[in-house]
Amino acid sequence: MPLTAVEVETNPPYRVLVGAGALDALRADPAGGVAVLADAAVWALHPIPALSDTPRLELPGGEGAKTLARLGEVLEWQASARLSRASTLGTRGGGASADRGGLAASLFKRGHAVVHAPTTLLAQVDASVGGKTAINLAAGKNLAGTFHQPAAVYCDTTTLATLPDGERSSGLGEVVKTALVGGPADLVALEERAPALAAGDPDATAEVVAACVAVKARVVAKDPTERGPRRALNLGHTFAHAIEHAAGYGAVPHGVAVAAGIGLALRASAELGLLEDEALVERVQALHAQLGLPADLVELRETSGLALPLDELLAGFAHDKKGAVGSPEFVLVRAPGDLPLGAALDPRLVESLLTP
Ligand code: GLY
Repeated sequence: MPLTAVEVETNPPYRVLVGAGALDALRADPAGGVAVLADAAVWALHPIPALSDTPRLELPGGEGAKTLARLGEVLEWQASARLSRASTLGTRGGGASADRGGLAASLFKRGHAVVHAPTTLLAQVDASVGGKTAINLAAGKNLAGTFHQPAAVYCDTTTLATLPDGERSSGLGEVVKTALVGGPADLVALEERAPALAAGDPDATAEVVAACVAVKARVVAKDPTERGPRRALNLGHTFAHAIEHAAGYGAVPHGVAVAAGIGLALRASAELGLLEDEALVERVQALHAQLGLPADLVELRETSGLALPLDELLAGFAHDKKGAVGSPEFVLVRAPGDLPLGAALDPRLVESLLTP
């Protein structure tokens, strides 16, 4: 299958290359030199031959390694590797590697270029595109971060063949979200590809990644710093972050929490009479079932064996980045592509949605 190139029309614009072999297009010759920040486990499986002789720091990946201490290690290494403002940092790994590496690139010497070569479905369809960077704080997920658009992204879909099941499910949650953000045609296209996607078909997977990147590029170009329409990409995320907080970071894969969060956002939308067509709830539930994702919080509690008690979920809302502290904001659903933003839900409705 030929590669797909998606342009993200930010200022400056950049290209996301998607497909099997996308990484072959990467060249190691930016003017100011390049250094690699890699997830150690990923580099052992998927090194980048073109960058094997460049300075490299290998660290653990995953949400648990998005800490202030690890960020400090990266910044000290950038100094010892003598990076300059003209340098480029290449990240290799999943969403956590892109988040942490993007933040380090935006901070070191007040910012140098970053190029992402993501290896997980979640990072390819979401985290590596759009310039959000972050680490977690004790008070909440992704609370310290910047916007720092990459100079390029290489989504080589061959790496997805070795993804553990949990990682794949995590990406699939963001895939469903992106189709709902994209609109009716994106949702139908995903429904058509879902059986092949669920079976791990490489071409269907590459098509889905390209479709998600195209939606994300459209949204990010309109609103790179999330002042307005980009907030739609947070569909399911306020609930998801509360779930991840209550479970302990890393216990529930992010995209799996997002899937449960989408189920909750749809239920809230139905309760408020917002949904144009209530059949959407069943369509999304069917997609989730096909893709091995929980329909909602009830199913997540059953499948994960986690209690996720109400008080711990509510504590997870305390530092929602989007609303005022203590007043979380939710993205609701009228129809695919028509998502009311910044909704403050009645606490009684939230409690009824989250009570076991
Ligand atoms: N992950 C949501 C965004 O990039 O806006």
